[in-house]
Amino acid sequence: MIKMKILLLLLLLLAVCPCSHSSAAHYPTGKNRPCCLHVSRKNLSSQVVGSAFHKQPARFPCVRAVILYTQTGPICVHPRDSWVQQVIANITKKE
Ligand SMILES: *[C@@H]1O[C@H](CO)[C@@H](O)[C@H](O)[C@H]1NC(C)=O
Ligand SMILES: *[C@@H]1O[C@H](CO)[C@@H](O)[C@H](O)[C@H]1NC(C)=O
Repeated sequence: MIKMKILLLLLLLLAVCPCSHSSAAHYPTGKNRPCCLHVSRKNLSSQVVGSAFHKQPARFPCVRAVILYTQTGPICVHPRDSWVQQVIANITKKE
């Protein structure tokens, strides 16, 4: 009975640990290549710099995302968010 409780506790800890990264909109590491494991839903359009973006297909554990660049590095954002579409339209229009 006690062993079970310890096991459950361990499982709980394991389940909680990866969550410390989950709010970050940054580029978490994949096994082979860096990829987005989460996307931010915040409007970060004012922070976007440069005119590069990448679309990332969903490939577990990576999620479908658009990668944009800010001064602090790449961010993962949701492809369907309207501000993301505005930024992409703005980038592609300029080229
Ligand atoms: C996102 O924020 C920018 C300014 O920071 C604003 O111009 C734009 O309209 C916003 N987009 C949405 C969809 O809220
Ligand atoms: C579009 O690009 C221009 C020039 O880089 C920038 O000033 C403007 O804020 C951008 N608009 C959006 C919606 O990203």
